[in-house]
Amino acid sequence: MGIDVKLLEEQCSRTLERTDLQGLGQRIEGKVRDSYVDGPRRTIVVSDRVSCFDVVVGTIPFKGQVLNQVAAFWFDKTKDIARNHLIDVPDPNVSVVEECEILPIEFVYRGYLTGVSNTSIWTAYERGEREYCGHTLPDGMTKHQPLPEAMLTPTTKAEHGAHDELTSRAAIIESGVVSEELYDRAAALTGKMFAEGQRFAATRGLILVDTKYEIGLDADGELVVADEIHTPDSSRYWYRDVYEQAMSKAQDPPALDKEYVRSWLADQGYRGDGEQPELTLAVRCEAARRYIEAYERVTGLSFEPDLDPPAERVPRNLGL
Ligand SMILES: Nc1ncnc2c1ncn2[C@@H]1O[C@H](COP(=O)(O)OP(=O)(O)OP(=O)(O)O)[C@@H](O)[C@H]1O
Ligand SMILES: [Mg+2]
Repeated sequence: MGIDVKLLEEQCSRTLERTDLQGLGQRIEGKVRDSYVDGPRRTIVVSDRVSCFDVVVGTIPFKGQVLNQVAAFWFDKTKDIARNHLIDVPDPNVSVVEECEILPIEFVYRGYLTGVSNTSIWTAYERGEREYCGHTLPDGMTKHQPLPEAMLTPTTKAEHGAHDELTSRAAIIESGVVSEELYDRAAALTGKMFAEGQRFAATRGLILVDTKYEIGLDADGELVVADEIHTPDSSRYWYRDVYEQAMSKAQDPPALDKEYVRSWLADQGYRGDGEQPELTLAVRCEAARRYIEAYERVTGLSFEPDLDPPAERVPRNLGL
């Protein structure tokens, strides 16, 4: 069945682009989320903004709701594996979380030899590199093949506007940004999260191909899984059956993530620099349809779009 296109078109004029809420604390704008920090609490408003090539390129109807609800779903699923920051979801687009000190590293996990960006494992492999983030890769592998084992390929967490850079356990420890003890504890924890993500995704006929985690420290120095987890923005998923068919024909398996918007932009000649093409109504609706499909496929739940316009609904649900 899927969601009504008419409804998506209407929602395009009511997307949640930006918030500037008063009374929730200090406002910090990310590419996709607006955070409000008040002491030990952070209110994260997940907007409908979509970022590609590290640039915000427009809004997609219901994207914020999808991301926020997928993350909440996974936080609940994995709560026995690792403590996470989620306290409450007072609105489909909002999470209230425990404010933590985020480690300046992104814990990126990869299960497959794939990717399209300059820093992806496949791009490096195709160039002939066999050392990647401190791991040695065997010769003779083909594109999209499973890696011998899931790999933690950390990146630095760049300041606003910059790109994250590949690094390794050794380089991180040597630089001292995180101690060896802390890094290894966070690696063990995120490794378990990724294994659980892959296991559960398989029960839904999906492959959790790769993902990234942000890890925080709480006031007592305990590790807390923060940010968003296993969402279509932070992860790549493939359909297991489509992957197998694609591999047998040496084709690229389609992903359930923002690849659609990225490829459309790339087809217009845009890769993050120069003038930005405006997303058309049709592209925004198709992207929304895909995000919603991802929600339903990952969670097994039917997506209930909140039709109450988010710009007014969000402050109301936050009691403002
Ligand atoms: N529990 C938490 N405590 C503190 N910061 C958090 C927590 N959870 C998430 N964050 C931060 O909130 C921000 C979420 O916003 P968003 O994802 O839009 O940012 P971004 O554009 O990816 O920017 P950044 O490069 O800073 O991550 C991120 O900077 C993330 O590190
Ligand atoms: Mg982010």
